Amino acid sequence: MPKKIFITGASAGIGKALSEQYALLDKNTVIGLVGRNKDNLLSLSNSLPCKSIALVADVSNIKSMKKVVNKFIKSHGLPDIVIANAGVSSGTLLTISSDIEKIKKIFDTNFHGVINTFHPFINKFIKSNQGHLVAISSVAGIRGLPGAGAYSASKAALINYMESIRVECHSINVNVTTILPGYVKSNMTDANDYPMPFIMSSDKAAKKIINIISKKKRCAIFPWQMAIIGRLMHILPSFIWDLLAKNGPKKKRNLI
Ligand SMILES: NC(=O)c1ccc[n+]([C@@H]2O[C@H](COP(=O)([O-])OP(=O)(O)OC[C@H]3O[C@@H](n4cnc5c(N)ncnc54)[C@H](OP(=O)(O)O)[C@@H]3O)[C@@H](O)[C@H]2O)c1
Repeated sequence: MPKKIFITGASAGIGKALSEQYALLDKNTVIGLVGRNKDNLLSLSNSLPCKSIALVADVSNIKSMKKVVNKFIKSHGLPDIVIANAGVSSGTLLTISSDIEKIKKIFDTNFHGVINTFHPFINKFIKSNQGHLVAISSVAGIRGLPGAGAYSASKAALINYMESIRVECHSINVNVTTILPGYVKSNMTDANDYPMPFIMSSDKAAKKIINIISKKKRCAIFPWQMAIIGRLMHILPSFIWDLLAKNGPKKKRNLI
């Protein structure tokens, strides 16, 4: 049976690299490519050496997600793996009133977008007693990053949400995996003008993500250097975190 994979945010960066790497692994794979940019999705779909379907949708809109999920299932059946990867990033500040709307947009995509991606599948997965839900969070979700509160909080909320549904899915045969990448080269990081330690290409990140998914890990941070830093960040007392984080790099304020 060919593996079927549904990937959001497939039109660029990590999602595009994931689609390409899955296609290279097995030409029998079927991939659902979700994003808002139709041209990018179609050109990726045409370039892949496996079967794929371009699905134009906005993850922040549940109706739009239900529509493309139904379209995928109608033509290919239930996917084996659903990867909620679509995400946006921007610096945000509490002092700026126009940031209130931006903060909402970041949560609509990075948090609600994941729920909108999983919800149309979950009852079908329960019925068929199979499925794997994967979310791409971030090392930025481990502690509150100054100047990027909304991005950091959206990824932190996602880590906890994924933990909740992992436990909820424990007694059924549905796997749940949360992945926290460090810096990966993409449109999102191309906007950063500060040093990004251990940054890796999106192809290398995609290979790591595929490996984590194949091992059905519950939660994983990569690269290994960031896994160590992430665990340290997690246990640092607040006063030390404050001292370290106050002079940290600041994300630019345009939404990417
Ligand atoms: N790059 C990093 O260093 C890094 C580190 C940790 C975690 N992450 C996470 O990894 C994921 C992918 O990021 P990336 O670096 O690949 O960024 P990217 O190159 O900017 O790609 C983001 C993808 O998300 C899609 N997207 C954004 N909003 C969407 C929406 N409302 N509906 C549907 N698709 C939407 C975009 O496609 P359209 O514009 O076509 O919709 C694009 O395909 C994100 O969740 C990000 O937070 C990235």
